[in-house]
Amino acid sequence: MTTTYTLRSASPAKTRAEAVVVGVLASDKGPVVCDAGADVAEAWGRKWQPLLSTLGVTGKAGEAVRIPANGLINAQLLVLVGLGAEPDETSVRRAAGVAARSVPNAASVAIALPADTPGLVDAVTQGHLLGGYTYTLHKTSAAKADESSGAGQVVVLSPVARQGEAITAFEEAQVLADAVRLTRDWVNEPPGHLTPAGFADAVTDAHRAATKGRGAPKVDLEIWDHARLTERGLGGTLAVGNGSDATPRLAKLTWSPKDATTHLVLVGKGITFDSGGLTIKPASSMVGMKGDMGGAACVIAATLAIAKLGLPVKVTTFAPMAENMVSGSSFRPGDVVTMYGGTTVEIANTDAEGRMLLGDALVLATEEAPNIIVDVATLTGHLQLALGDKVGAVLGSQEIVDAVLAAGARAGEQHWQMPIPEEMTERIKASKIADLLQHDWVRWGGGLMAAAFLREFTAGLPWAHLDIAGKEINTGGPYGHVPSGGTGFGVTTIVEYARSLAAPE
Ligand code: BES
Ligand code: ZN
Ligand code: MN
Repeated sequence: MTTTYTLRSASPAKTRAEAVVVGVLASDKGPVVCDAGADVAEAWGRKWQPLLSTLGVTGKAGEAVRIPANGLINAQLLVLVGLGAEPDETSVRRAAGVAARSVPNAASVAIALPADTPGLVDAVTQGHLLGGYTYTLHKTSAAKADESSGAGQVVVLSPVARQGEAITAFEEAQVLADAVRLTRDWVNEPPGHLTPAGFADAVTDAHRAATKGRGAPKVDLEIWDHARLTERGLGGTLAVGNGSDATPRLAKLTWSPKDATTHLVLVGKGITFDSGGLTIKPASSMVGMKGDMGGAACVIAATLAIAKLGLPVKVTTFAPMAENMVSGSSFRPGDVVTMYGGTTVEIANTDAEGRMLLGDALVLATEEAPNIIVDVATLTGHLQLALGDKVGAVLGSQEIVDAVLAAGARAGEQHWQMPIPEEMTERIKASKIADLLQHDWVRWGGGLMAAAFLREFTAGLPWAHLDIAGKEINTGGPYGHVPSGGTGFGVTTIVEYARSLAAPE
């Protein structure tokens, strides 16, 4: 079933729907219905607070309680979702996500969460679209397919529903959510399906869908095949990709609006499966390595979203794609690889493959003479160990890092700056036989060393590197607007960052 969303200013008690969702705040004095749901509480009158205490409703984040409405309101089912202490964009986005999972298949749902600003309208809409995401492509049973059919009609209730800015926020939220969902689909796709060629085909399809029809944006797409990569000399990408029967690719997208004054180049790591290569991973570390193209998926989906939103910033995106495998044509520890642009790299660990693709792509980025370069990559377990599975690492030029962190905060994603200390540059310059050393087997600071390596390919241009390792897949249960599996981490931050370039404050 396809879900349709509408934005309306109406009373939740009077709205005819299968289910109505109402937000509840957790206060010192117990649960308090949010303003948006006040008339639902009134419908129960004196029986409202006793009902909440009988059901053990607290209003804490993540809580969802379903109550038969017994004709007291126009909906059959009332769903109370917790907002925690503060009704802000973050808590509202999460609560809307929880709501989507508590009534997954209702024919119609009306949502009464705090939505009296454009930002909150965005949070409700995005939260619901993202929380309701499921990936069932490879489920064959009808029951499983049914489970995820999604709501039929979703009405976002908002007192500002008729204001232009709220309508824009509502429409843009759907573009953003589509981009995050596309990224999740690609990350979730099994690696035997989503090979580099399969990924390139999927990008071609997504590009066609985004650019067809009247009023659609014009985005240029090039897919570079193995022959083209060889001819252009993308040595890092080829060194990694030639170990696999599924040969490497590169996707290049260009969004070049007439009114752009800033040129941003995005780069994303597209390893469709990372076995580690000859420096093979332990079995348990290989699980989840289908998501090692999460950076490429993020920047590609973000680019299409930026174009759909019509943001007046030029964006060029490079996504090198390869599979890191073990074979007679794998690259070896001890090899020296000539990267695109001519820099030579001594290989010490074939599991440090991401930087080989990114090095090539960053040189391609500098050739565009952009104002800013931002790369997104599932690059190191080191930064996953440091920051966990919900907070991304940002490294690079201070000015760009600051702007990315601010964009992340507005977009509802957590990022944290990590440094690139001087000694990291010494480590990558320690090769006796090549320009750079790819890895040195010193365990400490591996994520910082990786960033120092990447910086060598940026020609001193303003640059930020987002290491999202561990953030691309949620290995636990769903929470808020984040499901199990592919998360789409990074997409909203990148789009919001592009927005900040389009409208400098
Ligand atoms: N793809 C991995 C990083 C990764 C780890 C992604 C966990 C997602 C979750 C990357 O290619 C890798 O293997 N990194 C090495 C770096 C090391 C060899 C310097 C690592 O994390 O150990
Ligand atoms: Zn990898
Ligand atoms: Mn690796």
